Amino acid sequence: MKSVNVAVIGAGVVGSAFLQQLAGAKSAIKYNLIYLSTSRKAVYNKDYSPVELAKWSQLLQSTASTPLSVEDLVDYLRKSPLPAILVDNTSNETLAKSYPLFLKNGVSVATPNKKAFSSSLSLWNDIFSAENTGLCYHEASVGAGLPLISPLKEMVATGDEVEKIEGIFSGTLSYIFNEYSTISPNTSKFSDIVKVAKELGYTEPDPRDDLNGLDVARKVTILARIAGLQIESPTSFPVQSLIPKQLESVQSADEYLQKLPEFDHEMEKLKSEAASEGKVLRFIGKVDVANKKTSVEIAKYDASHPFASLKGSDNVISIQTKRYPNPLIIQGAGAGAEVTAMGVLGDVIKIAERIAA
Ligand SMILES: NC(=O)c1ccc[n+]([C@@H]2O[C@H](COP(=O)([O-])OP(=O)(O)OC[C@H]3O[C@@H](n4cnc5c(N)ncnc54)[C@H](OP(=O)(O)O)[C@@H]3O)[C@@H](O)[C@H]2O)c1
Repeated sequence: MKSVNVAVIGAGVVGSAFLQQLAGAKSAIKYNLIYLSTSRKAVYNKDYSPVELAKWSQLLQSTASTPLSVEDLVDYLRKSPLPAILVDNTSNETLAKSYPLFLKNGVSVATPNKKAFSSSLSLWNDIFSAENTGLCYHEASVGAGLPLISPLKEMVATGDEVEKIEGIFSGTLSYIFNEYSTISPNTSKFSDIVKVAKELGYTEPDPRDDLNGLDVARKVTILARIAGLQIESPTSFPVQSLIPKQLESVQSADEYLQKLPEFDHEMEKLKSEAASEGKVLRFIGKVDVANKKTSVEIAKYDASHPFASLKGSDNVISIQTKRYPNPLIIQGAGAGAEVTAMGVLGDVIKIAERIAA
């Protein structure tokens, strides 16, 4: 039976679901977990004998070992007797910046961490350099487990021309706008919906981290680069922030939420303008390949448009290409432990099918 060695960093929401799915992977390849770490603890054997996958949680709790430095981990995986895959289930930027080091040393990478792919263009170029001997897959870095990056890359590789990508890429902002701006009129206030979204655990601890648009800008950066645009960084194009200027610098999330009702009239004006045209508001990311333009903004959609009837916190992405003049629409949960872990494990299996020995 062919096998690969797998090193996993991060055992939080996605990491723990990933480890559970890895234990039950239906694949003709054997996956040996040879390293598992969180920010303070690590489990591994110097002789590469596998860590017992079914007991990962107890082993992590009881270990006295601390994580290897990036350099030592590269060295450990480079010398692995079987081809090795690093699975980064953190949102750590330093680790993300070290992917080129792993990839140059023949270690493949699978990750839902969008940091590496949405930082500087030079990091992107280093990750996908033809000289690297490791493979890098990141399906879950946009839209969690939705099949998005892989089909988009296939379209480009087979000679299709991407014309436009438009989508709702944030589960949090999907929920907020789906509740706020509905096809049949409602009297909901923007500030009330943001509060409910926070109470339901849909937002970051400080909702401004969702409402500043940067997370969406990072996802747009990734898709635009795959579509062929040389995007310098997620701050190099227009990104509309939903945080009123006066509340950008207030100290706490509580103070922000307390003062937000004072600004409800601003969003209300946009909502009623849209309603008078039979439209709804949505917070979208847009890539216009022909005009080399990317943006993140509030946009208006007709009631009949697929974005208008979105429910809950779903993501939806519309891809228009030469071959798909009627856009291809991909819709579904864009966050959550199970679907994100599925995206990561799918990448691990694809890599293993190419490198297992
Ligand atoms: N949750 C989702 O629905 C979702 C959807 C799409 C993509 N993602 C992406 O998936 C990744 C993981 O998200 P999550 O929700 O699972 O996060 P999480 O619950 O906060 O877990 C993060 C894990 O990474 C570990 N970690 C953080 N920094 C580390 C470091 N420097 N070295 C080693 N381990 C480190 C943490 O260990 P400690 O506990 O010791 O700090 C923890 O085990 C992120 O990049 C996120 O953007 C998540």
